[in-house]
Amino acid sequence: MTPEPIDLLLSNANRVISGKSGVHEGVSIAIDSGKIKAMGPASEIAGFFHPAEVVDATGKLVTPGFVDSHTHIVFGGHRASEFVQRCAGADYEEIAASGGGIRSSVRMTREASLEDLIDAARPRLARMVAAGSTTIEIKSGYGLDLETELKMLRAIAELAKDCPAEVVATFMGAHETPDEWRHDRAGYLDLVCQQMIPAVAKEGLAEFCDVFCERQVFDPEESRRVLETGLKHGLKAKIHADEMAASGGSEVAAEVGAISADHLMMTPPEGIEALKRSGVVATLLPGTTFYLSKPQYAPAREMIDAGLTVALATDRNPGSCTVESMLFIVGLAVQRMRMTPLEAIQAATFGGAKALGREESCGSLEVGKRADLILWEVPDEDALVYEFTNDLKRSVWAGGRLIADTEVHS
Ligand code: NIG
Ligand code: FE
Repeated sequence: MTPEPIDLLLSNANRVISGKSGVHEGVSIAIDSGKIKAMGPASEIAGFFHPAEVVDATGKLVTPGFVDSHTHIVFGGHRASEFVQRCAGADYEEIAASGGGIRSSVRMTREASLEDLIDAARPRLARMVAAGSTTIEIKSGYGLDLETELKMLRAIAELAKDCPAEVVATFMGAHETPDEWRHDRAGYLDLVCQQMIPAVAKEGLAEFCDVFCERQVFDPEESRRVLETGLKHGLKAKIHADEMAASGGSEVAAEVGAISADHLMMTPPEGIEALKRSGVVATLLPGTTFYLSKPQYAPAREMIDAGLTVALATDRNPGSCTVESMLFIVGLAVQRMRMTPLEAIQAATFGGAKALGREESCGSLEVGKRADLILWEVPDEDALVYEFTNDLKRSVWAGGRLIADTEVHS
């Protein structure tokens, strides 16, 4: 039999973490036309294919590309002074209540042009891709008026066009109540539900609708209204829940059938039960807990033991978390939330894909899936999390195309 020509063979990896089905040792991966064509014992695979290119993975670890299912990387300006204030003892919620926080980013985002927003977000996105994220969700929510929310979503659409990673857009007009509506929160939500959601859906600018269900922001009833309106217009539901306090957000996620509930730092046992009952993915964002210097991380062990699907994401945003590296998030999950290295890597890949409804196309290394993968210069997952603080050497492929190779640039 003549060997079949293929684009690329990743040969003889020490360990391959599939993202879904566990770990394989001494495996080669055949890649063609952007997809995984075959995966199996190195000795068997070699004879079947005639690769245009061979990359020797001997002694190294291969994982799926990371799926960062929760980010806010499009925004105007920055909030460096707030960070320094918080380090000196100021509180995130107090800063927000006195007009800073999200509302300060809203003022700066309204002032920015579409091009300004794109130019500022591009290097963030490029760093995330180089760090190994091959699918990245981005939310609006620093506009909080129709025009600026649309500007943000258009910036996301532009960024998606030339990004080697897949970009997924989420509308988050209910991220805060803007300055001009402080006296009338219900009026602002009328605007979100009657004008923004229909406009966003009509233009096809977002796939998901998200809401910040939190004390001082939106309560469970208001959150339900936003998500149900989104669903009516074809936007799948996500929710920021139980970040600063148990907000009732997990229960709302379960009631409306949200695809994911995110943050969950303060989720009580009843919240975990509710998520489990409705099959909602629990998206944990330990970078935020870390960056806000909060003492309590999300109860990941309890969630995993209860049988929830857990995802990990960065939450990269201008106020509560500037972490862009999914490896850093994986390391935090192991170190602070008692997840095992394998659980954390799976949550950062297959878990994220589930949180975006993309488990059929990405987040795991299986025949037929998109060839999104990372070749790490370490032998196994213990060595990977051990070095989570470092910019490890790695090669990243998205859709079978080499998009970052730190060996070349270092
Ligand atoms: O996910 N929680 C709400 N939104 C962001 C924070 C936004 C900000 O501070 O700008 C978050 O943590
Ligand atoms: Fe967030």
